[in-house]
Amino acid sequence: MKGYYARKVHSLLGLVPLSLFLIEHAITNYAAFDGGQAGFQKAVRSLNDLPLVFFLELFFIWLPLLFHGVYGLYIAYQAQPNIGHFNTERNWRYVLQRVSGVVAFVFIVWHVYSTRFQISLGNVTHDELGGWMHDMVTQPGYFVFFLVGVIATTFHFANGVWAFLVSWGITVGPRAQRISSYICMGLFVAVTALFMLSLFAFRGEEFANTASVVTTLKTLIG
Ligand code: HEM
Repeated sequence: MKGYYARKVHSLLGLVPLSLFLIEHAITNYAAFDGGQAGFQKAVRSLNDLPLVFFLELFFIWLPLLFHGVYGLYIAYQAQPNIGHFNTERNWRYVLQRVSGVVAFVFIVWHVYSTRFQISLGNVTHDELGGWMHDMVTQPGYFVFFLVGVIATTFHFANGVWAFLVSWGITVGPRAQRISSYICMGLFVAVTALFMLSLFAFRGEEFANTASVVTTLKTLIG
């Protein structure tokens, strides 16, 4: 029984709330592609205007992310991959789930530091976020890191949903598992596409204008 309940809580938190947060986050960012600067600002504002936003974030993002991330690293550290002996799809899923989890962990720590934490420090406001993102993703190194980090996270999410359905006894037979594999692959493609479109949108000229306003403001204040 050692670690059984911790494993179950870890697995459940991956689905609710973390997978739901990832989908919500992809849709909010997609507003940058769909509605440009004004659309993105509106999406960010409507989230931050939610009542009790601090507690919503604490209980639905921060604490679940912390537990899932730190306990997930411990699980990855204990992993015993079998690809040398059995080169099966299931073993590949097992290895890729752990590798993508570690990459996602590093990416998310950096990403939260460079967005949310900077807001808390007062270095950027919610309304300036579009320009802030533009400044970041127009630098090649950060852009590539974003691409790799997003793909690792969305793969971890989609493959994680597939594994969740197996381990909780929801998809039992090979046919059910094959169908859920197609659905999860579709989820991976759809959520990755939303993030990618927003990444390319932030690189656009429209967000450069606000970026230069931020830079000017900083020069004036500094
Ligand atoms: C195209 C890719 C992405 C972009 C452009 C992006 C952009 C942003 C922005 C602008 C914020 C600050 C939002 C605010 O405070 O109002 C943010 C926060 C955050 N992002 Fe992302 N993000 C991306 C991918 C991801 C991925 C793949 C994850 C994985 C879980 C993630 C996790 C987070 C978390 C946990 C926060 C803090 C949420 C909060 O406390 O409200 N992001 N992101």
